[in-house]
Amino acid sequence: MPIDKPLQDRVAVITGASRGLGRAIALALGEQGAAMVLLARDRVRLESVVDEARAMGVSAECLVCDVTAEDQVAEVHNRIRERFGRVHILVNNAGTNVRKPITEFTLAEWRQVLDTSLTGAFLLCRALIPLMQGAGYGRILNLTSIMSHVALAGRSAYAASKAGLLGFTKALALELAPSGITVNGISPGPVATEMNQPILANPALHEQFTSRIPLGRWGTETEIARLAVYLCSADAGWITGTDVLVDGGWTAQ
Ligand SMILES: NC(=O)c1ccc[n+]([C@@H]2O[C@H](COP(=O)([O-])OP(=O)(O)OC[C@H]3O[C@@H](n4cnc5c(N)ncnc54)[C@H](OP(=O)(O)O)[C@@H]3O)[C@@H](O)[C@H]2O)c1
Repeated sequence: MPIDKPLQDRVAVITGASRGLGRAIALALGEQGAAMVLLARDRVRLESVVDEARAMGVSAECLVCDVTAEDQVAEVHNRIRERFGRVHILVNNAGTNVRKPITEFTLAEWRQVLDTSLTGAFLLCRALIPLMQGAGYGRILNLTSIMSHVALAGRSAYAASKAGLLGFTKALALELAPSGITVNGISPGPVATEMNQPILANPALHEQFTSRIPLGRWGTETEIARLAVYLCSADAGWITGTDVLVDGGWTAQ
């Protein structure tokens, strides 16, 4: 008789799942048996992650969704309600970064950064929490950052969005505790994804970042994904309103 996987029968929604950490988290949750709904804007890349998941025996489908667009998030809610009727896991992973001095920011750039990480998480939570309440199991995970805790010059919008997301995480944890839904953050240090291409493509800057990491190397997508699996598991049922730094020691200094 096949043995049930730990997240068998759980429905998990991951934003920003077309690449990078979102892709890695989705595949890792799927390996634990969850049925995955992957969201992002790029249909071609989303579909290739779905193909990859299915080739691993993971149940996955995707919906194109810009998390900053209220109507698109409402449509995602409708589609998931019709298809599954409930949601057990929501990972708010979609994010973007604009690195420049504050006086060079356009309002559109500022808004894009805050709308993606912070308002996107708000819109997804507002839409999907009704499908989590009463599902008997609820885990919300927000991809915060070391920039939720410390900062760098030229990261005003990103640091504001991620510090805001950490505050949102704590407030929502308190609000949802009576429903048994946990809400936590994962704060990675540098991981080699597309978001960090400008750093990776500049050897001096890359070395400068690496030299700030006490463990002497960047993190891996797998290290973030495995923590996400744990925080979404039944074993993490008494962890809520907190944020786990996975940063090679960056913020200990
Ligand atoms: N990598 C790191 O070092 C690091 C460190 C700390 C925190 N984080 C956080 O971890 C998360 C994932 O980062 P990553 O490094 O994997 O970045 P990434 O490679 O740039 O991927 C970002 C993902 O977000 C999606 N996305 C961006 N804007 C979106 C929007 N408006 N609507 C829907 N999806 C959107 C992108 O897909 P589409 O373009 O297809 O929409 C993509 O799938 C982010 O929140 C980031 O801030 C990353």
